[in-house]
Amino acid sequence: MTRVFVFTNHKGGVGKSTSATNAALGITSMLRRAGAANSRVLLIDTDSQAHATLITTGMKDYGTDNSLYTVLMSDRQTAAQTLLNSIVQSTWDENLHVLPASPMLEGAERELMGVAGAPYRLAEPLSRIANRYAAVVIDTRPSFSLMTEMGLIAATDAIVPVEPRYLETVGLMSVIGKINDIRDGWRQPNLRVSGILITKMNNRIRGHNHLLTELKSHSVLGNLIMGVVPANEAVSYAHQNHQSIFDYDYKSPASKAYMQFVAKLVYRILKGGA
Ligand SMILES: Nc1ncnc2c1ncn2[C@@H]1O[C@H](COP(=O)(O)OP(=O)(O)O)[C@@H](O)[C@H]1O
Ligand SMILES: [Mg+2]
Repeated sequence: MTRVFVFTNHKGGVGKSTSATNAALGITSMLRRAGAANSRVLLIDTDSQAHATLITTGMKDYGTDNSLYTVLMSDRQTAAQTLLNSIVQSTWDENLHVLPASPMLEGAERELMGVAGAPYRLAEPLSRIANRYAAVVIDTRPSFSLMTEMGLIAATDAIVPVEPRYLETVGLMSVIGKINDIRDGWRQPNLRVSGILITKMNNRIRGHNHLLTELKSHSVLGNLIMGVVPANEAVSYAHQNHQSIFDYDYKSPASKAYMQFVAKLVYRILKGGA
């Protein structure tokens, strides 16, 4: 079964889109270097702000006939084909494919309110085509909306990006609770919280180090995949250029940190297991 990684946290600005886009490219590159038969990765952008779409395709004005919106609005019988038709190649790598978000997604939640099976409108078509890909990566919007629920229901592995500040780690437990509710409430036994990705870490700040130590020794969280990405202005410059962090500066601290994290994901993809 293809692993579907969803990057989620109801807080904005914690690095979801940065992490989803760079992880998606990182997985493709690492699989190719490992000589994998299939190194294609599909990135799905569920945020109407379309940041992930913009930086990986150079465009953000996808709409009614070429985006995730199209898939959500199509008939059950045609949704998988519509999904395939809506996928575009990323400007970052020919093996990185993108199902673009659209500003239209803003209204999609209202349009789908009360429609039978609405929460499965991504999971269902995706399950029919996922085996074409070595992995799928989903970026979510900063809220627990229907769109985010759809992303979680379509996923096998939730990764929670979080900034190393006290309040946000309190928030971390509530994100994990929400993901577990979705697994149980929507009968999605394949979904689990797989990883925590600490973003914008500054190891000169004592509180940050303290928090990291606490997380690592936590009885539950300490067993998850953990990544630590330093605060690094190369990330902003890469965004401004619509480049991945690896292409912007592969020697930057953020590049190295993302590669380490991606290696852990690729290990799961190739070897399976939690
Ligand atoms: N490791 C990092 N170091 C410095 N800035 C970062 C880092 N990760 C993300 N950022 C910046 O933080 C902002 C929010 O990141 P983004 O990935 O868009 O978050 P989200 O998708 O959770 O809203 C962006 O301006 C981005 O450039
Ligand atoms: Mg985002």
